[in-house]
Amino acid sequence: MIISPSVLSMHYEDFRKELADLNESVEWIHFDVMDGHFVPNLTFGPVLLEAFRRNSDRFLDVHLMVSDPDYFADVFAKAGADSIVFHYEAYNDLEKCEKLINKIHDMGLKAGISIKPKTTVEEIIPLLDKIDIFLLMSVEPGFGGQKFMIEALDRVEQLKRYKDEHDLNYIIEVDGGVNDSNAHDLVSRGTDALVAGSFVFKGDIKDNVRKLRECE
Ligand code: DX5
Ligand code: ZN
Repeated sequence: MIISPSVLSMHYEDFRKELADLNESVEWIHFDVMDGHFVPNLTFGPVLLEAFRRNSDRFLDVHLMVSDPDYFADVFAKAGADSIVFHYEAYNDLEKCEKLINKIHDMGLKAGISIKPKTTVEEIIPLLDKIDIFLLMSVEPGFGGQKFMIEALDRVEQLKRYKDEHDLNYIIEVDGGVNDSNAHDLVSRGTDALVAGSFVFKGDIKDNVRKLRECE
């Protein structure tokens, strides 16, 4: 399984130590970019991603929760992202989404779509054969530390079934409230990548990552 800790919950006063723990224990590092408009919270810009890029060879997984993903895709690609995932709800328009997916691919990055809990998987089916990553939100985007929404499990099953039936290979990544009590159910239903913020950074990072892996 891929574990992608959300650095929204990192303790930046201990940046070097925590980044060293991440470099030793995980495959991906997840960046929650929020613009204070698409979601009611404001996080970080490209300078922070550049600092990770200089100090890590892990896969840098950028989750754009912004109203203008086209603009920020360029910004974070330049800063060193390996993948850019944006929200369908930023456009609610399949054609615009497809255009941005193509642009991200043209920049040589992996591209993904995310949907909020209230958006149905059916709405974005025409995009599923174009993406590398499907980021399923299991909380309302905006803040770390929220409670996992159990409905996400059925949605993972739906995405996994569609993927197998159509011989596609997008990575199913789940984001929000992930911990050692729901990781097993998520993985057994087809989740490939787990984003976890508060669970990983509360206490010892490497121990917490190990606990998630043991759930497989
Ligand atoms: C929510 C973010 C998540 C979140 C995960 O808007 O996309 O990545 O920070 O944090 P936890 O694991 O604390 O729910
Ligand atoms: Zn996220």
